[in-house]
Formats: sequence, structure tokens, C-alpha cells
Amino acid sequence: ETQLRVAMNKTDFMTGWLPKSATPGASAEHFAPSNIALCKYWGKRDTELNLPVNGSLSVSLDHLGSRTRVEPIDGETDSVWLNGTQQRPDSRFAKRVSAFIDLFRIYHPEQAFRVTTENNIPTAAGLASSASGFAALTKAMNDAFKLELSDTELSVMARMGSGSACRSLFDGFVEWQMGVREDGMDSYALPLEQCWPGLCVGLIHVDENEKSVDSRAGMQRTKETAHLYQSWPMQAAADLSKLQQAIAERDFALLGSVAEQNALSMHATMIASWPPLLYWQPDSVAAMQKIWKLRAEGLALYFTMDAGPNLKLLFEDASRGAVEAQFPGLEVVQPFGI
Ligand code: DP6
Repeated sequence: ETQLRVAMNKTDFMTGWLPKSATPGASAEHFAPSNIALCKYWGKRDTELNLPVNGSLSVSLDHLGSRTRVEPIDGETDSVWLNGTQQRPDSRFAKRVSAFIDLFRIYHPEQAFRVTTENNIPTAAGLASSASGFAALTKAMNDAFKLELSDTELSVMARMGSGSACRSLFDGFVEWQMGVREDGMDSYALPLEQCWPGLCVGLIHVDENEKSVDSRAGMQRTKETAHLYQSWPMQAAADLSKLQQAIAERDFALLGSVAEQNALSMHATMIASWPPLLYWQPDSVAAMQKIWKLRAEGLALYFTMDAGPNLKLLFEDASRGAVEAQFPGLEVVQPFGI
């Protein structure tokens, strides 16, 4: 719980640049989209500031994400609600939210908040919501204290809550520059100029149960115990530039193949950890094999996966009918429209 405070002390992170006279809290509400990484963030060089070992690139999921409202309240503890249910103050989620608000609370340490988050991500899609949740909370806290932070500063703040949240500040394709500075002030996300009308992301549901090892613990274990992890930073750097090229040239086969290989490489490092981390379930593997078969038959269909058993399909609008016929009930998002 005190991890982020430690981070502040360690680098004098906040006092250096947050406005000195944040006004007392007002109510505020914001939405932020979920995002799917095509080149994954996996491994930290600094666990307190969430500074990544590698740069990453994602696409935001348009209307799917989190709406978060913050209201100043009397009392000593924050009241944290998620999808209509109040979270126990000692729950992992509530503690993480309160520790994050502490970063903003430096000038008004006594001010408690009610934080209400609604995720419209279909639970069945099994998508992580910490990225959109912390991004929406960052924007809401910025308004609540009238900080008027720039997009870059908002991205730095969101990163402190959850690394992947720094990318959820923006729509479309987003790149998180890893940065080199120790205080992390150059480690933030930027939206790419390019768009890709017709690009589709399909969400396959394999299992929505909460995973036993979350991304935070999983990436740490991988970095500490998997020899294979040594090759990951180089692979990620190469994939990142190939993805930039694929986006610039609108080369879908390149985009899909790089994203799929990047995800499988990340999973290879997880499996090589000790104790081993295998997020796949039999249905995940069955879906992969189905995709490879369909691709061999000529369908331009690729997938990516995060630290869980669910697949995210990548295809173009022209193949949508064929893909939906193979995966009934698929939730499809077109981040750039048709
Ligand atoms: C596999 O951003 O959830 O989804 O920084 O510890 O909060 P923390 O981790 P988190 O990790 C996301 C990992 C990933 C890949 C990605 O989104 O880039």
C-alpha cells in the first residue's frame, strides 16, 4: 500500500512538477477506453514507478472501457465501488485505488473520496480493466483537483497506477515510449497519427475467472526466473518497429503476424518461468489451432493474448462475416470505424 509513497520519496517525483496549489477536491467523471497491446509491455526496470523494460504499442477499444466518478466525501477512508458493488477497504482493488489517489492528495492529505467505476467491457470478454480504470481515474483526479495536467503528464500519472493505463489515455494506435530517465518523466504514451478504418478486434471468451497470478506478479516472476526473458527486450524492440511500418503501410499481414508472434514470444517467457506460468487453457489452444487452420485456408486472421486464457482476434472488415461465422457470438470492436 505504501509502495507509491515510497516511489515519491525515492525520486521526489511529484513535488518536482505537480502544480503547487491544487484546489480542494470537486466531483469529476471521465471515461477511458480499454486497450489491446500488439507489442506487449512485459517486465519492469523499476517496480515502484512502473518503468518498463521495453516499449509497447496498443490499439484502444473505442467505446469499451471504464467510466470513473470521484466525489469528495467526509471521513477518513475512501469508499471504492466497482460495477455497483462497494469494495472492502482492505481489498486489493480498494488499496490500490487509494494508494493511487494518495499521489494526487499531497496538498490535501485528509480529503477522502468516493470512487465509482463502471466497466462496460462485457465480463464474458475476460478483458483486464485496470488500464482503462486507472486512466479514467487519472483524468477524474486531474479535474477534481483542477491540476490541468498535459496529456503527457496525465499519461505519466496513469502509468503510476498501472503501466498499461498510460496507453489508455488516448484513442487509436498508441505507443508507450519506455524512456531512459530514472524518475520516469520520459516514460509515457503518445497517440500515433495513423488510423486504420476497417481494422477489427474480436474478443473470444474462454474463461472469465480471476487469474491466480496477475500481470504485475507474472511479469516480475518472468523477469526474475526465466532465462528466456533475456531475449525479450530485443524481440520487443524489433516488433515495435515492424508494427510501426505495418501501420504506416497498412500492411495487415505484417501487423497480424508481428502481433501474434510477439504475444506467443511473451507467453514463451512466461512458460519458461519458475514456478511455470501457463495462462492457456485447452480452449485457448483449440482456438489457436482453429485460427492457424483458417489462415492456412486463406483467411487473414491473427490473434493476440495477454496474461490470461482469452484470445483477441485481429482481422479486417472485409473478413468480418467469415470470422463471425467461425466464432459465433464474437464481440467485435472497430477502433477506427469502417
Ligand atoms: C500482458 O499494466 O496490468 O497486458 O503495470 O503491474 O499494473 P502493472 O501491469 P499491467 O500489465 C499489462 C501486461 C499485458 C501487456 C500489455 O498490456 O502491454
